[in-house]
Amino acid sequence: MSDTSRDERRTERAIAVALVLSAITALGLAVTYATGGQVQLEGFLLGLSLGTMGWALCAWGKHLLPPGPFVQQRQHPAEADPEQEPVSRLVDEATGEASTLPGGGTDTEGLDAVGRRPFLVKLLVGAAGALGVAALFPIRSLGPDPGRTLFRTSWRKGARLVTEEGRLVRAGELEVGSVLTVFPEGHIGEADAQTLLIRATEDDLRTRPGREDWAPRGQVAYSKVCTHAGCPVGLYQVESRRLLCPCHQSLFDVIDGARPVFGPASRSLPQLALDVDDDGYLIARGDYDEAIGPGFWERP
Ligand code: FES
Repeated sequence: MSDTSRDERRTERAIAVALVLSAITALGLAVTYATGGQVQLEGFLLGLSLGTMGWALCAWGKHLLPPGPFVQQRQHPAEADPEQEPVSRLVDEATGEASTLPGGGTDTEGLDAVGRRPFLVKLLVGAAGALGVAALFPIRSLGPDPGRTLFRTSWRKGARLVTEEGRLVRAGELEVGSVLTVFPEGHIGEADAQTLLIRATEDDLRTRPGREDWAPRGQVAYSKVCTHAGCPVGLYQVESRRLLCPCHQSLFDVIDGARPVFGPASRSLPQLALDVDDDGYLIARGDYDEAIGPGFWERP
């Protein structure tokens, strides 16, 4: 056996070992993930699997495939039959015949060289399949489909406003300039339902078309979830009548429909339509008419 073929045999064996190792570590990764996971171990196994697979492919390409370079001759224009040549070429391509390359090579030589090692090809397919199986498991981590839940809160028509302590809020009990965090009755503490009730004066409020009766006696309610990144908008500046989000300093104009006037937020805080029930308590006219929080759903 020549030195060259002995070297090739040695390279083939090394590639086979690398591919087997890649498959085993990929399966180990899948098992580790399925049995609860361990981040450091998963990272190690993933790196080892990809690394050995990459090394095997590089070694295969470098040592076992024809080195090239391959240069396809151009036919001299004078020799070319303008009608026959393209047809014969199409026939060649359709029948799978290879074009002859200079030095006796063909443009399918690389594929032939791969096909001459079916054992390595099977190992490569096995290792890639094992990696594919391991990649499927993290899909489970995406969790259940949220469906329409991101577009709804617990506010319903007739839901009474309650404080964080569970006390019902009477219409008119808030002083002008005061603010109160409220929830729908029975849903205290729900992050997406938290709402700021603010008392302004009716004359000051610039209501938007269709919202003329949403703020009885100047009591206006906005979602407390910032439309930038979802922080609670908790600071009310009485003088300027603006709400400040402490996370990135977005400012919302309470008088003008909680329109953002400063900072990264680009969307107004959704307004909750309010009413007063027969007992004099503040109630909601329904859920928010738009999604609360960061506006990812508005992106294309
Ligand atoms: S989360 Fe409110 S400004 Fe960024």
